[in-house]
Amino acid sequence: MPAERPSPPPFEAADLERSLDRYLMWGLVFMVVLIVGFVAYRAREPQLRRDATTAQQKSYREIGTQLFATNCSGCHGKNAVGGSGPVLNAKEFLKSTTDNQIVGLVAGGVPGTEMPAWSLAFGGTLTDEQILEITTYLRALEPKAPSVPTWRSGKT
Ligand code: HEC
Repeated sequence: MPAERPSPPPFEAADLERSLDRYLMWGLVFMVVLIVGFVAYRAREPQLRRDATTAQQKSYREIGTQLFATNCSGCHGKNAVGGSGPVLNAKEFLKSTTDNQIVGLVAGGVPGTEMPAWSLAFGGTLTDEQILEITTYLRALEPKAPSVPTWRSGKT
């Protein structure tokens, strides 16, 4: 009878192996938490963006309302109903003019008329941001804007 060969010592001590198992378990838990977290974040993101846009539009509109009252209503009338300058609260104007066109008109003015350039870049007093705010205000008038076929001639 050959003597029994001694079995080799276990590769790792039992307590080390238990410790490793615990690390692996926690690793798995964290991974699941991260995956669930990312999925939940991704699902919420579009609504967060919509809310942020709405909030920004609201604050632009409010600031734009003030800026218009201070800088523009002298010629375009209170609430843009017209004065010596055109009626801007008019379906005809708002439907036929894009935001970019309004920004351009306000920034550069209408040379050869009473309408001055407002952009700092053209010697005016308003920043690009403020011109966007006024544009947001004017655009917000569109849904309720009355039809004023003679809008170009201001308040007649
Ligand atoms: C001193 C008077 C005056 C002031 C102040 C003034 N405007 Fe005007 N604006 C006019 C006149 C006049 C016109 C018409 C120009 C023309 O004959 O085409 C005009 C034209 C415009 C138009 C173009 C309308 C079109 O013909 O399509 C816009 C937009 C406009 N003004 C916005 C503004 C805004 C916004 C402000 C304030 C930041 C402002 N204006 C301040 C006199 C004024």
